[in-house]
Amino acid sequence: MPSPTAELVARDLAVVWHPCTQMHDHQTLPMLPIASAQGVWLHGHDGKAYLDAVSSWWTCLLGHRDPRIVAALKDQLDTLDHVMLAGFTHEPAIDLAEELVRIAPRAVGDARELRRVFYADNGSSAVEVALKLSFHYWRNIGRGERTRFIALTGGYHGETLGALSVTDVPLYRQTYAPLLLEPIFAPSPDAYACAPGETAIDCAQRALAAMRGLLERHAHEVCAVIVEPLVQCAGGMRMHHPSYLSGLRALCDDFDVHLIADEIAVGFGRTGSLFACEQGAIVPDFLCLSKGLTGGTLPLSAVLTHEQVYAAFYAEYSAGKAFLHSHSYTGNPLACRAALATLTVLREEPILERNRALAAHLAKRIAPLAAHPHIGDVRQTGMIAALELVANKSTRAPFPGSERRGLRVYRHGLERGVVLRPLGNVIYFMPPYCITPEEIDLMVEVAVEGIELALR
Ligand SMILES: Cc1ncc(COP(=O)(O)O)c(C=O)c1O
Repeated sequence: MPSPTAELVARDLAVVWHPCTQMHDHQTLPMLPIASAQGVWLHGHDGKAYLDAVSSWWTCLLGHRDPRIVAALKDQLDTLDHVMLAGFTHEPAIDLAEELVRIAPRAVGDARELRRVFYADNGSSAVEVALKLSFHYWRNIGRGERTRFIALTGGYHGETLGALSVTDVPLYRQTYAPLLLEPIFAPSPDAYACAPGETAIDCAQRALAAMRGLLERHAHEVCAVIVEPLVQCAGGMRMHHPSYLSGLRALCDDFDVHLIADEIAVGFGRTGSLFACEQGAIVPDFLCLSKGLTGGTLPLSAVLTHEQVYAAFYAEYSAGKAFLHSHSYTGNPLACRAALATLTVLREEPILERNRALAAHLAKRIAPLAAHPHIGDVRQTGMIAALELVANKSTRAPFPGSERRGLRVYRHGLERGVVLRPLGNVIYFMPPYCITPEEIDLMVEVAVEGIELALR
């Protein structure tokens, strides 16, 4: 008799095509059927527990099956499952939009208030919405010559064609390049790329000078600049100084182009503030949110913008200015209730304060790794920490991607019951906020063991 796990794996591999996976790998790499989850722990059908150190692709903010979210979902399911959001509305969509508007980033001296909420149903779709809204805004006000976007090198914004166009991670982009829009790529302020003797602030200033040069040449044809504030996540958890954000906001204002802040991965307390934009004291023209928004229970995304944008679309139907973008599950009531429950927890509990203590504990645990002969960088922003594996510490030459050393760390993690899913040579931690100091210790210990094995 095959074990229940083996049977599930065989059935899965016969019919399911998994995301972000070369399916051939599963000839040797274990596929893990998960039966249940609670807090930071995933429970396999094999009876083993796995610490979810990456919050299931950064979605599971508070921990799996947070009882407050579960209760809200059960209650919602008893009243309204779904209704299309065109021509209809419902309390969860209204309540959530009001709450998002209430907590949205504000800045002293900036009149922009993010008071309009457009829903979509995943991160990439939110990016599509923001790109289209910006382009369409300029068209509606008679500036149809603005058709391009500026994105940062090393940035990631999703994998639908528009979002992939403004993504600069070759692994995802290269194959599809012939299908994509051609954005203008500006150098990232990534502090890991600092020249010798440069500080993170210098690095940010250098990137801003390059951005100024690009805007001087291209602003007339540019709709918006898109940025992942503070951490370029999928591009390798590359971090930058908050002064880049304030400088970028000022440049976008000087050259009259929109600023799109993609906080899909970093929003809701991940970087130490509720939104990363707050650390640069900026209000973007478009704020993209998803992932942690529902605490990792259901897909939902939202794009917030201000009244000037909304007003450019508001006209008699015959003017042809409406934003007709639509997804069937836009503003799904269950997803909105899950998001409301998540935001209630963030409002009522000292989550940011607790995260600060957890982040300090994590920092203490990883600090000694800076001396490791094959770790070229140890970096952290709030509840995101990363270790950069290098072949040569003095030159920071990376290990060739084909050696797949990160995959060895992943395999070891699974054996030891910790889900680490490195991004190439970057081993990172992005755990749910309910993790304990002891669980942090375990997560780091297993990563270090995995790194030693991967170096053999
Ligand atoms: C910054 C950022 N933007 C957009 C996305 C795309 O979100 P989704 O995977 O829900 O389409 C991601 C996903 O990792 C992301 O990290």
